[in-house]
Amino acid sequence: MSSKLSTFICQNCGTETSQYFGKCLNCNSWNSIVEEIKSKRSKYQDIKNSKKAIPFNEISSKKISRFTSGFKEFDRVLGGGIVPGSVVLIGGEPGIGKSTIVLQSAGKISLSEKVLYVTAEESLEQVKIRWERLKQDSFDLKILAETNLSQIIEEIKRINPSFAIIDSIQAIHNHEMESSPGSVSQVRACSSELQNLAKDNNIALLIIGHVTKDGALAGPKTLEHLVDVVINFEGDKISSHRLLRSIKNRFGSTFEIGIFEMLEAGLREIKNPSSIFTNKENISGVATTITNEGTRPLAVDIQALVSKTFYSNPRRTTTGININRLHQILAVIEKHVDIKLSEFDCYVATGGGFAINDPSSDLGVAISILSSLKNIPPLASSSFIGELGLSGQVRKTNNLRTKIEEAARLGIKNIVVPKLEEDLNNNFKNIINIKEISNIKEALVYSFRQ
Ligand code: TYD
Ligand code: MG
Repeated sequence: MSSKLSTFICQNCGTETSQYFGKCLNCNSWNSIVEEIKSKRSKYQDIKNSKKAIPFNEISSKKISRFTSGFKEFDRVLGGGIVPGSVVLIGGEPGIGKSTIVLQSAGKISLSEKVLYVTAEESLEQVKIRWERLKQDSFDLKILAETNLSQIIEEIKRINPSFAIIDSIQAIHNHEMESSPGSVSQVRACSSELQNLAKDNNIALLIIGHVTKDGALAGPKTLEHLVDVVINFEGDKISSHRLLRSIKNRFGSTFEIGIFEMLEAGLREIKNPSSIFTNKENISGVATTITNEGTRPLAVDIQALVSKTFYSNPRRTTTGININRLHQILAVIEKHVDIKLSEFDCYVATGGGFAINDPSSDLGVAISILSSLKNIPPLASSSFIGELGLSGQVRKTNNLRTKIEEAARLGIKNIVVPKLEEDLNNNFKNIINIKEISNIKEALVYSFRQ
């Protein structure tokens, strides 16, 4: 019992409408709406073995046993390992290393679990070449090169693995639908069928998705709410560092990061990530902050270049920091430190271009700007933590204790922080000098004393 019907779907955000619009009503993108024909199944067709509700206290509360991905850094981002029956989506730009990391992980997992790797983009021989480069061991790893969803589902059912990988969701298609692979309706239909299969058979499923040019997953809304975990694989193709960052996680905290390095033989975990985002040099224009990404404290250098402008509108650019945040910090300095910054261009970049979300990096940004402006390095071996309020005050921050511990672990001698709620000075006596401040002016006096 099936009938054809046509619908109009925005290829950018997945919004469905019954008629064509030149501009999407939801995300405002132009010319992104495409007509798609989909077959509609009867509502009741799929109800075969209906499930019954059960009393809550009959559910066993025994801990879900996760299995390791083979990488400690990957496990951390997943919230402690892979949960059986969960669906994880890894998104990233083409060529960033998604296939590499999942293949390495598949090899490691296959030493203890049955694993199926479905490649829809490459041939078996191409995967084999990559495999040889990675110099991996495997025991129970099966590989399937297929793009047809029904065939993939048949094979998953036949093999019944504990862990299956789909590389990538945009390359597979459901032949019952007329739209082309990679379109929002295909991506949505294929993902939801695969998700049902994973849940029904308790298979952990990892789906790879490519990101569009503006950094969003194709059909983002559709995919993100379907899956349990969404991870972004980020990095600059020119540098060798790669970051896994959880954007959504039903089984762990979000914004958790895992850091890797891309080498000749694949990806390697970085054990001490703070060391790659800091230089430990005491030069003007550089201030170190400790940020919290997920549950991990991380030291990152903030670099600023402030120079006299030749433009009527001074230039402000950022790498790794939100540009609006920079505008706000500049406005606070202008008002509360009384420095006319409108005559200066201002460029701010984080060490390695690491994207910081934690607002407590504000103070580091402000100190690096002032240091570049004055051409004086900030106090040697120091780090700066605190969110800048609009009235110039330095506001409280989360996880201050773990940040101070990280600074101490790295051998940093001074740390400038907002007023503490508990007295930590005794805990860190002779290890790190904690300077509590309440506003930007105080921070300035302390940081640039000679
Ligand atoms: P790939 O995993 O194919 O990217 P994606 O699946 O995200 O499109 O990675 C491709 C890049 O990684 C390619 O530029 C080569 C590089 N690479 C290495 O540097 N070392 C390796 O061992 C491998 C397998 C790839
Ligand atoms: Mg790939």
